[in-house]
Amino acid sequence: MIKTVLNDYSKKVGEVFNVYLPDINSNYKNLTDAMRYSFLLGGKRIRPALLMEFYKITGKTDENAINFAVALEMIHTYSLIHDDLPCMDDDDMRRGKPSNHKVFGEDIALLAGDGLLTHAFGVAADTKGIPAENVLNALKELSCLSGYKGMVGGQVIDLESEGKAVSGGIINELNLLKTAGLLRAAAKIGVILADGDDKQIKAADEYGINVGICFQIVDDILDFTSDTATLGKPTGSDLKNDKSTYLSLYGMDKCKEMVNELTEKALLCLDKFDGDTTFLRELTLYLAERKS
Ligand code: IPE
Ligand code: IPE
Ligand code: MG
Ligand code: MG
Ligand code: MG
Repeated sequence: MIKTVLNDYSKKVGEVFNVYLPDINSNYKNLTDAMRYSFLLGGKRIRPALLMEFYKITGKTDENAINFAVALEMIHTYSLIHDDLPCMDDDDMRRGKPSNHKVFGEDIALLAGDGLLTHAFGVAADTKGIPAENVLNALKELSCLSGYKGMVGGQVIDLESEGKAVSGGIINELNLLKTAGLLRAAAKIGVILADGDDKQIKAADEYGINVGICFQIVDDILDFTSDTATLGKPTGSDLKNDKSTYLSLYGMDKCKEMVNELTEKALLCLDKFDGDTTFLRELTLYLAERKS
């Protein structure tokens, strides 16, 4: 069920993206090719799925949140393009193919990230069928959690923690910002667009924090234990860059314990919603047990 539903979301997200960034000829075609390349390679599309599902469990049956789901995935994709650049993690493979800068060069990869980020806000603002106030509030969340108080800030702490013995508190903040940022955005924006109440927005936020930190711990474990063919990106990247991670600080057993605890906490947050949370519960468990 998980794979089928994620595939359906992936298809829908690809279709809408193609409308907003079609394959057209221009004097900057290299740029749009680079933006389309990384986005259309796919990935798990976890963030769009979460956003759409939180919209549904807050009581909506339509698909009007789709523009925000696509925008969030555009921002996620830009973060991956920049994350792989030589000045950051210096990784040559992403989503099973050569990283953006390996195909288009560092200059175009940088600008493809910029292009996806800025275009994302236009796509989100073009949402139809949802009250303007909710759209504006969702835009503020998107900006805040993907910017310096969220993903971008976390990436800085990540880079500046390389090769250092940092505390658990710093690693917690790092994961909270760099990874939980976009997962919090997914859950919260779904609820905001569906006109959920403050309690539901808070529950969505807590869900995003728990699942987000858990997601990065699993990513760090897989970087150590998996292989490139399974992950579609280089393994051993964290050791290569001497990253500070939960795994480097606490070791494997403690990390697995934390994954279970965070997953339990995330599942509890779903109790605040009246809608059918069956799929979200399965997805939450899948994210803890995922192999890629
Ligand atoms: C990778 O995210 C970056 C992290 C936050 C760990 P995903 O594992 O969701 O990557 P894709 O979208 O499936 O490629
Ligand atoms: C990056 O974390 C999270 C982002 C905000 C892009 P990682 O550097 O561990 O992600 P991967 O392993 O390269 O996907
Ligand atoms: Mg990184
Ligand atoms: Mg990386
Ligand atoms: Mg990683």
